Amino acid sequence: MSSVGIDQISFYTSNYFLDLRTLAKVQETDPDKYYQGIGQEKMSMAAHDEDIVTMAANAAYPLVENGEAEQVSTLLFATETGIDQSKAAGIYVHRLLGLNNNCRVVELKQACYSATAAIQMACALVARQPEKKVLVIASDIARYDLNTPGEATQGCGAVAMMVTAQPRVLEIDPEVGNYAEDVMDFWRPNYRKTALVDGKYSTKIYLKALKKAWEDFRESSSLTFNDFTHFCYHLPFSRMAQKAHQHLAKANKSELDANGLEQQIADTLSYNRIIGNSYTASMYIGLTSLLENCQQDLAGKRVGFFSYGSGCVSEFFSGKVAEGYQQFLFTDLHRDMLDKRQEVSYDEYLNLYKAPDPRDGEVHTIAADTQGRFRLAAISHHKREYVAI
Ligand code: HMG
Repeated sequence: MSSVGIDQISFYTSNYFLDLRTLAKVQETDPDKYYQGIGQEKMSMAAHDEDIVTMAANAAYPLVENGEAEQVSTLLFATETGIDQSKAAGIYVHRLLGLNNNCRVVELKQACYSATAAIQMACALVARQPEKKVLVIASDIARYDLNTPGEATQGCGAVAMMVTAQPRVLEIDPEVGNYAEDVMDFWRPNYRKTALVDGKYSTKIYLKALKKAWEDFRESSSLTFNDFTHFCYHLPFSRMAQKAHQHLAKANKSELDANGLEQQIADTLSYNRIIGNSYTASMYIGLTSLLENCQQDLAGKRVGFFSYGSGCVSEFFSGKVAEGYQQFLFTDLHRDMLDKRQEVSYDEYLNLYKAPDPRDGEVHTIAADTQGRFRLAAISHHKREYVAI
């Protein structure tokens, strides 16, 4: 069977961010609680005319702008920030990107985990028909109530990955380990815009799921802890990955010291620290961060992935970085986007946070705000109107 995996990967985040020092000042909290304690510095805030659809289209655009749109046979859209109970958000993206009419489109949900389900399904589809390309997009806006412990772990972003045979970035191994359990650590009922969370409990369940998924992975894979040079964890905040990695290393009696362990994850955290949680997208933005920021040539190296979605479903899987992967990244585009972002004041943050969600069926036009290529221009008679700028 030919190899399958990620042929190209690109992400998008909003132009606006709140520095967590600003939040700490308003809350009269020590900023080190955020900068050191949870390992987060900034959080992206979506512009008024941005949502999961516009972020997704922005993330995917570089992957299809040279005629590849015609070749995409399936679009899998992972999110937990759904905008409609029936229509898949990916259908809007399908039009914005000019995908062909013979493309299948579907939305997947299981908290932060569903992008990994999408990746595995994409690999299975490509293994069956190696000439096909499957576009996987994960897009989310992480929102918690104001003045709660979760507030500092908000963020937003989208990541797009083209899954193909003979991938030029990351070959994904077939063996996986799973762990699922019905728990209430984090959830968002239909009538709420913000998540409910039992924060401390959620971190404990995350660590339990990691250990269980790893044990299951070891049942099917011959790879051991020492076969991996790097690990990408789901990133609700970067300190969570550090704790998780220490936990996994301890369970495997690793001889690496604290610095050695940190080197295995440090480059995966760089983007997340300044974007915040992007739920389904966050682990894959972590992968992009590793590939684009690691000074070492990662070709041939094995990366371990731990994907976690509250509720909970989790998965440990692995991949091998392809020879010459650097040529297929969008490093300059991503750095430029991050460098050009604009800091917002606390009041501006509140304004973005409290943006109304029209629901009365009248015509709501939305002023142009985003720096991205696609925007939500209006919601008219209950219909969302997206445009390319
Ligand atoms: P908290 O309870 O306010 O924070 O919120 P804390 O008091 O535990 O402090 C956090 C850390 O900062 C601690 O370190 C403190 O010691 C340290 P630790 O003991 O953990 O090593 N600290 C300081 N360090 C330096 N200088 C200081 C200082 N003060 C304190 N001055 C909590 C933390 C995680 C609970 C909160 O952020 C939260 O509720 N977040 C949302 C839930 C979450 O992210 N859970 C993660 C696991 S679940 C998951 O990943 C899934 C998720 O992405 C959703 C999905 O699947 O869809 C969330």
